[in-house]
Amino acid sequence: MRYLITGGAGFIGANLAHQLVEEGNEILVVDNLITGRHSNIEDLVRNSRFEFKRQDIIEIFDPGDIDGIYHLASIGSVYHYLNNPIETMRVGSIGTERMLELARERNCRLVFSSTSEVYGSPLVHPQVEDYWGNVNPVGIRSVYDESKRYAEALTMAYYRKYRVDVGIARIFNTYGPYMDPDDRRVMPNFITQALSGKPLTIYGDGSQTRSFCYVDDTVGGLIKLMESNCPGPVNIGNPDEYSIKELADTISALLGVPGKYEYEELPEDDPLKRKPDISLAKSVLGWTPGVSLREGLEKTIKWFRKELQ
Ligand SMILES: NC(=O)c1ccc[n+]([C@@H]2O[C@H](COP(=O)([O-])OP(=O)(O)OC[C@H]3O[C@@H](n4cnc5c(N)ncnc54)[C@H](O)[C@@H]3O)[C@@H](O)[C@H]2O)c1
Repeated sequence: MRYLITGGAGFIGANLAHQLVEEGNEILVVDNLITGRHSNIEDLVRNSRFEFKRQDIIEIFDPGDIDGIYHLASIGSVYHYLNNPIETMRVGSIGTERMLELARERNCRLVFSSTSEVYGSPLVHPQVEDYWGNVNPVGIRSVYDESKRYAEALTMAYYRKYRVDVGIARIFNTYGPYMDPDDRRVMPNFITQALSGKPLTIYGDGSQTRSFCYVDDTVGGLIKLMESNCPGPVNIGNPDEYSIKELADTISALLGVPGKYEYEELPEDDPLKRKPDISLAKSVLGWTPGVSLREGLEKTIKWFRKELQ
């Protein structure tokens, strides 16, 4: 199969590209590198089954023959989307429309990477797919949350009106190799701070919770969704829930450093709880995450050590 991965030089996209090439597929990665890194796919460039095109997906381009589209292009880290609010809205809206048009024209399946952020600061816990969310439409984070909600609505409109074969994945916090150490998400922050002997920065009192999914599991879920005919939305995440303080304690313990923390104010509209209900992914895709937080952190820390050298 020949797949197009938009945003394939980013964190999840690079992991997906490596996995799909390893499975014998041909891959075209299209990425404008606004937050992605060429170094994430550098080793693949020598492979004859891999092609990279530096390209903004907002512009029309010809990907050649394709059998499916993984549409991952977006600006995923809060730090970056707050600094690039218009680019974030445009890739979610115009970029998604371009990819849906491409899927329609080529008559191929499109898997869209949506997010648990569509649930906002949830009033239902754990989050099930039929919960509509609690999002501030004019808050600073809305550029990301609302562009994903719009993209989901557009994807369903193409599904209903043109019968485009789509699958919407609502991805929850994912971590692992190929994360940008500087993109200010909680995992790279904690790991780089702990590795360099600095205090870990905790926003708020650290009691807010997140569910962390190791990237191999997330990638496995996306591939299963591509291979199914499920339109979704379907939650892809690990239901094991940890407070941010527990995560900081676990990383400090794994690295054998004393838990030194610096507390800063909780950012605006930061969700207090996050935990996916994955019953749908289990029943429809036969998918369930298999990597524990400890095991995933060990692999991630190993990768960060090498990357930071
Ligand atoms: N990592 C997570 O925890 C998480 C959670 C929920 C959803 N997601 C979603 O999964 C996808 C991948 O996330 P990630 O963590 O790998 O983020 P990332 O920022 O590392 O990767 C996104 C990639 O998209 C590219 N991109 C952005 N705008 C583009 C444009 N206009 N044209 C071409 N390329 C463009 C970036 O350069 C980057 O390489 C995103 O859609 C994100 O919203 C991620």
